[in-house]
Amino acid sequence: MDLVEEIIKLKEEKNAIILAHNYQLPEIQDIADFIGDSLELARKAVNVDADIILFAGVDFMAETAKILNPDKKVLLPTKKATCAMANMLKVEHILEAKKKYPDAPVVLYVNTTAECKAYADVTVTSANAAKIVSKLDADTIIFGPDNNLAYYVAKRTNKRIIPIPEGGHCYVHKKFTLEDVERARKLYPNAKLIVHPECNPEIQEKADLIASTGGMVKNACLHNEWVVFTEKEMVYRLQKLYPNKKFYPANEDAFCIGMKAITLKHIYESLRDEKYEIEVPKDIAKRARKAIERMLELS
Ligand code: 13P
Ligand code: SF4
Repeated sequence: MDLVEEIIKLKEEKNAIILAHNYQLPEIQDIADFIGDSLELARKAVNVDADIILFAGVDFMAETAKILNPDKKVLLPTKKATCAMANMLKVEHILEAKKKYPDAPVVLYVNTTAECKAYADVTVTSANAAKIVSKLDADTIIFGPDNNLAYYVAKRTNKRIIPIPEGGHCYVHKKFTLEDVERARKLYPNAKLIVHPECNPEIQEKADLIASTGGMVKNACLHNEWVVFTEKEMVYRLQKLYPNKKFYPANEDAFCIGMKAITLKHIYESLRDEKYEIEVPKDIAKRARKAIERMLELS
């Protein structure tokens, strides 16, 4: 059986669309209807004219699509597609911080559960976090769960950022070290370093450019050679878009288990059996939607 052919057939039969994150396996990027970063995917989810949205990404992204499209069927091809960082933040962390800083707005990265988003004043992605935080009418901001993105935002705004939870991080981006920076500079002296803001502060400080994955796609036109400090599949995405430029992964071990849990076979079975359907309890979805819509308005 040719899985790609079967997937295309099922998509047509069921009026389904495949939205994929930039970190998906090459063969999944190749069959997707739309590929993007988390902000672009959230935006796309608002305007989708399909009965089924199959989300090739991690669970919080599919939840965001469902919250924005309560009447559509949103499918996640495997329950293993989850974000370790999103799972670090619990509602109790938010409530504790709120007790200490009652006037501070709660700004949450979209990499959070729907339940946590229900407690947010606004959500952000790495593409718009600094812009949105600077627009808020408050000097102190509760920000979670990525401590490195909190550092990035603090440096670019005049606000006091309170990161929650303590040590919130992405294990994929934590893998990059100063040795990776040194090796990149030695091996590719003409290349610029493009770095995701989930990387540690010392790596951010060495970057030629810091960007979300969507920002990487947009800015890669500015130079001919790049060393890429984010999940390894980003290199495939960039190389396909810019065949005449050179892209090198800064560290081949930067591999997101949740993103890579999805295979073509999962996508085929997911469309065939219409599983696993994302459900978000109505009261949580209503509150989370406000925070996500505020982000879309402000960015
Ligand atoms: P982007 O919004 O930059 O795609 O980031 C999402 C993510 O999970 C990065 O690890
Ligand atoms: Fe989550 Fe990190 Fe994977 Fe992004 S790369 S989905 S932040 S675990």
